[in-house]
Amino acid sequence: MKKDFVPRLDGNEKIKDTLNSLARIKTNEAWTDKERGHIVICGDCTDPTIYDSFFTEKVDLAIQDPPYNIAITVNSEQLFETDIENYKNFSRLWINNMLQIMKEDSSIYIWLGADQKKGFQPFADFILLMREFPDVKSRSFITLRNQRGYGTQKNWMSLRQELLYYTIGNPGFNVQYTDIPKILKGYYKKIGDENLTNEQRSKSECIRAGNVWVDIQQVFYRLKENVPGAYAQKPIKSISRIIDASSNEKDLVTDFFSHSGTTLLASEISNRRAIVIEKDPIFAELTIRRLENYRKTSDLGWQSQSPFPEIDFSKI
Ligand SMILES: C[S@@+](CC[C@H](N)C(=O)[O-])C[C@H]1O[C@@H](n2cnc3c(N)ncnc32)[C@H](O)[C@@H]1O
Repeated sequence: MKKDFVPRLDGNEKIKDTLNSLARIKTNEAWTDKERGHIVICGDCTDPTIYDSFFTEKVDLAIQDPPYNIAITVNSEQLFETDIENYKNFSRLWINNMLQIMKEDSSIYIWLGADQKKGFQPFADFILLMREFPDVKSRSFITLRNQRGYGTQKNWMSLRQELLYYTIGNPGFNVQYTDIPKILKGYYKKIGDENLTNEQRSKSECIRAGNVWVDIQQVFYRLKENVPGAYAQKPIKSISRIIDASSNEKDLVTDFFSHSGTTLLASEISNRRAIVIEKDPIFAELTIRRLENYRKTSDLGWQSQSPFPEIDFSKI
């Protein structure tokens, strides 16, 4: 193993033992940020008892990125593959817990995968399961287009990541714009006596973000925001877009599957407060470190540097 190589942080027991000794919060403990009041909870989001102590106020926006019921390289306790009924039960537990802490008018976003070799599970099952919650209204089904795909020569390349948008009550929505300039003048519309083009009527030089996002770079090791050792990191631009669309400054955001801490960091940047949960103490520590590193350096991640420089992974 090369000296500067950072392996997947939950890759094997030896790595986990070493990193666990650095985790400043253990299961059922929380870290409270002294500067802005964010909270990182180390715990299992399916456990209803962890919410009482830390969620003293209700949440405006939940951004959830649960495991997709697919084992990537290792079938760990946190990233597991189980039969679909078990997966649905796991989902019901965290959704029920989430609904207890949401405001009457609030928004929920859920990332999920569709395994094309297995009847598009768990995505197909999940969208039906969400109908069990009558207070939760389906609003949009967003696709984020990855820049790089994977797959064989015998099928379409897999390029998409699915994002479900739901609301409870009647929360606000702030229209978002991409960085893609408008090139078409579009249709005329009569406003008063004048026939105005799209360009004349619009509020931005750039096109609006719709429910297909093609303008967000997937995270890879050359990007500053890359968090080495995290295997399921979402681009911060995608999380910031959600936060800016469906919450306002000072609002409370939550994420039950924090991992590399993208939601916490995006909340900090957009001047929201976040309470996030992560079951694995190593990723809870990573979440805290990512925020601290950002405050110290203004960097969104570590690119290819280790978030745990005190560990020489080549010796483990
Ligand atoms: C797909 S990743 C989330 C990635 C995250 N959006 C990011 O940008 O870094 C899922 C995370 O959920 C955590 N997790 C799995 N089961 C959990 C549970 N029951 N409670 C809390 N966290 C859990 C895993 O340890 C993993 O870090």
